[in-house]
Parts: sequence; structure tokens; C-alpha cells
Amino acid sequence: NNNIVIAIDGFSSCGKSTMAKELAKKLGYIYIDSGAMYRAVTLFCIQNGLVTNGVIDEDRLKDEMRNIKIEFRINSEGRPETYLNDKNVEQEIRSMQVSNLVSPVSAIGFVREAMTRLQQDMGRRKGIVMDGRDIGTTVFPNAELKIFVTASSDTRAKRRLEEMLRKGQTATYDEVLKNVEERDYIDQHRTVSPLRKADDAILLDNSHMTLEQQDQWLYNEYLKAV
Ligand code: C5P
Repeated sequence: NNNIVIAIDGFSSCGKSTMAKELAKKLGYIYIDSGAMYRAVTLFCIQNGLVTNGVIDEDRLKDEMRNIKIEFRINSEGRPETYLNDKNVEQEIRSMQVSNLVSPVSAIGFVREAMTRLQQDMGRRKGIVMDGRDIGTTVFPNAELKIFVTASSDTRAKRRLEEMLRKGQTATYDEVLKNVEERDYIDQHRTVSPLRKADDAILLDNSHMTLEQQDQWLYNEYLKAV
């Protein structure tokens, strides 16, 4: 068994999950969207009144952490969906409201510790593709293949907007661009596990790549890594 761990990190909305999912499918690996886990914690904060004027009540959140159960369940089409305390929240965690609060929630040390532990458990048996911000640096520093993805913020905002509109959500280009740039800033400047390229990660700028080119590129890197 030469199953490996594949870590895909990078900026917001640069297609990490699309390429990670595709590769996982091709290899028969598990795909984990670590961002969905931070989004689920954020949704929990919103639903339980832990947010006042954009400020998170960290003391209460710390007490509530043990009441937050996050899982992925495979739907009838074979795709993983995010569950928060046994409720399917796959749609809700993608809203602008969650997107606008997720980076501050993700900067909290005890939140990161809990999510990191869960993620490491999920990868114990290898054969996993995980995307996020700190997978190659913190969660799986020994991953056999690490990719760091970037693209211009204009490209990323357009992609995210298209995706949201396709899913029937409402947003404007300006709103999405602002959110993408703000999240990147907070993610790069937080003290605990900031977003940065691991020294041994391979850099990919996919601004001018088609989905097919990107998938081919990634598969090729996988072949080189095994
Ligand atoms: O990947 P996605 O854009 O859904 O992630 C949402 C947010 O979750 C990111 O902007 C970041 O603040 C946080 N995140 C993180 N570490 C990860 C994955 C996501 O801090 N490994």
C-alpha cells in the first residue's frame, strides 16, 4: 500500500477544492475540505448567539467547543457533505454571512487546535487529499505531496461569484472581491498557523489554466511524488 497524504493549500477561492476533489476521485482517496470545518464552527457561533456586532465571545465559544460535532457524510451522489451536530449544513456554511466571519473565528488558537486534531485523525490511514490554509505547514507537515495554489484576486472573485450564483446564492462581484481579499489578509497575518507556502510545497498559479490543464498538472505532480 503506497497511499500518500496530499496537502493543497492556498488563497481563498483559487479552485483548491475543485482540483482536490477531482484528484481524490481519480485515486480513490478520501477528500477533506478543512475550510468547511472552520465554516461549521462559524455557523455554530452565529446560530448560538456567540457573535455580537461581528465580535466573537471567545470565552463562551471555548466552553461550547465540546458541544460542536463536525462530520462529513457521503451523499447519494457520492459527494461528502458537512454535518454540524447531525444536521446537514453544506449549503448554509457557504453563505456570505459565514464567509464574512470565518477568518476571525479561524484565528482563534483553541479552535485551530481542535480542528487540527480532527483533521490529523482523518488522515491517519493516509490515502487522503485535504485542502485548506495550513495543511502542509501544520496539519500534515510530513505530507508526501504539498501544493500551494494562487491566482489573481480578480480571477478568484469571478470564480467564487460564478459558483455562488450557480448554487442560487446572491452576491455581487464587489462584495465577493472584498471578502476574498479580507480573508486572505487575516489568514496571512494571524499568529497561529498563518497561511503561507510550506518550504517544500510546489507553487501553482492557475490564473490562466483551464480545469483540464489544472487536473492534468496535479495528476502529474502526484505521479512524480509516488
Ligand atoms: O477554504 P475556504 O475558503 O472555505 O475556507 C474558509 C476560511 O476558513 C478561510 O478563509 C480561513 O480563514 C479558514 N481556514 C483555515 N485553515 C484551513 C482552512 C480554512 O484557517 N486549513
